[in-house]
Amino acid sequence: MGTLSRRHLCLTFLLVCVLASIVFLHILQDLFHNGLGLFGGRRRVTSPVAIFCLSGTPRSPNASSPCLTEPASLSGTWTICPVGRFGNQMGQYATLLALAQLNNRQAFILPTMHAALAPVFRITLPVLAPEVDRDTPWRVLDLHDWMSEEYAHLQEPFLKLTGFPCSWTFFHHIRDQIRREFTLHDHLRDKAQDFLRRLCLPGTGVAPCTFVGVHVRRGDYLEVMPKQWKGVVGDRAYLQQAMDWFRARHKAPIFVVTSNGMEWCRQNIDTSQGDVIFAGDGQEGSPGRDFALLTQCNHTIMTIGTFGFWAAYLAGGDVVYLANFTLPYSSFLEIFKPEAAFLPKWVGINADLSPLQKLPRSLSGIV
Ligand SMILES: *[C@@H]1O[C@H](CO)[C@@H](O)[C@H](O)[C@H]1NC(C)=O
Ligand SMILES: *[C@@H]1O[C@H](CO)[C@@H](O)[C@H](O)[C@H]1NC(C)=O
Ligand SMILES: *[C@@H]1O[C@H](CO)[C@@H](O)[C@H](O)[C@H]1NC(C)=O
Repeated sequence: MGTLSRRHLCLTFLLVCVLASIVFLHILQDLFHNGLGLFGGRRRVTSPVAIFCLSGTPRSPNASSPCLTEPASLSGTWTICPVGRFGNQMGQYATLLALAQLNNRQAFILPTMHAALAPVFRITLPVLAPEVDRDTPWRVLDLHDWMSEEYAHLQEPFLKLTGFPCSWTFFHHIRDQIRREFTLHDHLRDKAQDFLRRLCLPGTGVAPCTFVGVHVRRGDYLEVMPKQWKGVVGDRAYLQQAMDWFRARHKAPIFVVTSNGMEWCRQNIDTSQGDVIFAGDGQEGSPGRDFALLTQCNHTIMTIGTFGFWAAYLAGGDVVYLANFTLPYSSFLEIFKPEAAFLPKWVGINADLSPLQKLPRSLSGIV
């Protein structure tokens, strides 16, 4: 009798599993039919952006939605090539995590990614030993920087992703998990909090203070944007408009400026209202301090670049970003889709592209 009912139980369980899978597949199909191609058409380039589990998606544990699949049985070995700087590697980490989860694969990071991110965040993905990396029969997949339907159906057991993915369309459906992964180490958070608290003493504003992190990306981008991409970086007028946007909406905001070009910031950001603090140390080698400061602020002003994206995404408040910062025929728009890069609720301010017209033809002619 006992064995018989055990068999019954097993069979029932199997049946439930099969039914659940069918329901799940139908939902996935529906999502694709309704969710794809929202932003297609306009541009000549490649595949559409796939939107998974938009912000309105119910997140209760019993709601049936692909966002909520538990990592039941992860198989295979997936990783991603760590290339670029801090912000790029955060994008690679988050994308690997999200895509592996969507395909029920186990994600590992390579030691150099661990070395870049673990000093700042309490990340949890396991690190792949070099000999496993060497001996695994990888298939390599170069990702473009927006979610695609095909990325949800990757069968490969051994996959090494490459590219510079940093689009919310990959990971926004698991944003809570991404936020947990990118939790600051306590000492970094505490130092940032101490710094901010000291700005918020009586007389400096209304308590509780409102902090706006300002990330001004300069450095190599000053050359790369106009020459390679026919684009601009955030200029003085943009920063003024962005700060005024916050001044109009928040009571006595305090602007906390970090940059890899602090000197330029000191000379170009209007401090006449007494609400600007130059806080960045601009040390490219140790981005943790600046990053911690930005994420502990309530809101964000970005210019360009993934560092600013992540600061804004994690701070989680209002975000003003530089929009349309390349000429319309820039080849940058083949690898970068604004609608997949900036959350719909973020506020764009159009860039002033007039400096590009002043470039010699030889520089602006080739993309
Ligand atoms: C989900 O679960 C909660 C309690 O865990 C319950 O109150 C709710 O009715 C459930 N929703 C659905 C759609 O089953
Ligand atoms: C703004 O940020 C500060 C510093 O992180 C924090 O103490 C404060 O609670 C935040 N304010 C709001 C309204 O979230
Ligand atoms: C960027 O340019 C496009 C096309 O001209 C326009 O539709 C869009 O509103 C612009 N973005 C912003 C933030 O103004």
